[in-house]
Amino acid sequence: MQQHDSSPLTDYVEYSEDEMLNRSQSFYNQVKRRHSIRSFSDKPVDKQVIENCLKAAGTAPSGANHQPWHFVAVNSADIKKQIREQAEFHERGFYEGRAGEEWLGALKDLGTDANKPYLEHAPWLIAIFSQKKGGITEDDKNTNYYVHESVGIATGILITALHNAGLVTLTHTPKPMSFLNKVCQRGDNERAYMLLIAGYPSEDATVPAHAQVKKSLEDIATFL
Ligand SMILES: Cc1cc2nc3c(=O)[nH]c(=O)nc-3n(C[C@H](O)[C@H](O)[C@H](O)COP(=O)(O)O)c2cc1C
Repeated sequence: MQQHDSSPLTDYVEYSEDEMLNRSQSFYNQVKRRHSIRSFSDKPVDKQVIENCLKAAGTAPSGANHQPWHFVAVNSADIKKQIREQAEFHERGFYEGRAGEEWLGALKDLGTDANKPYLEHAPWLIAIFSQKKGGITEDDKNTNYYVHESVGIATGILITALHNAGLVTLTHTPKPMSFLNKVCQRGDNERAYMLLIAGYPSEDATVPAHAQVKKSLEDIATFL
């Protein structure tokens, strides 16, 4: 390995084999209770919870450790209203034809349509942006590597952290999403990647049967 500055690994925790097995099983039991929810309560969620989940997302691995992401956590009723108006405007175009028959067919079993009331009901919307240029410090303007992969991993950790905290989420991707740059005041270097809705489920929240069908281990994995 090339000469570089480093320090000993001191925060690694080794578990016994039994404990490892229990922890892996228990984590699976926990994450399989995560569902995309489309009906939210307006019960508030403490900003500190969101901050902790964002800090967890910020620990994600990234190409050259450039951390090419920015999260805009929106609690303001006024900004949530703007996001809902714009998202519904674009979604109407999508559902009224732009999506095409095949895509609309794939969405049929989820019961989604152009109405997105949760964009105002939920306490937090987290707009996730990816950065084309950046670096290890905020003001760097270097090329970022594996941006899509890195932001995807950070988003996965964020969703898992929110679920672990006891919140429900929806991964929302209005098409196009570029209006989020303007509403969230983010510059040209950033591309809106995803909008996460986070909060408590409404009392009548449901989970589509279609979404509960997960491929078996045999289907998703091969051991050689
Ligand atoms: C990249 C991505 C984009 C998505 N976009 C939307 C969306 O715009 N609207 C929506 O209602 N659900 C959206 N979803 C949620 C999926 O429909 C949902 O994850 C899938 O049906 C499986 O359900 P589950 O998350 O409960 O396991 C999206 C999910 C992903 C990963």
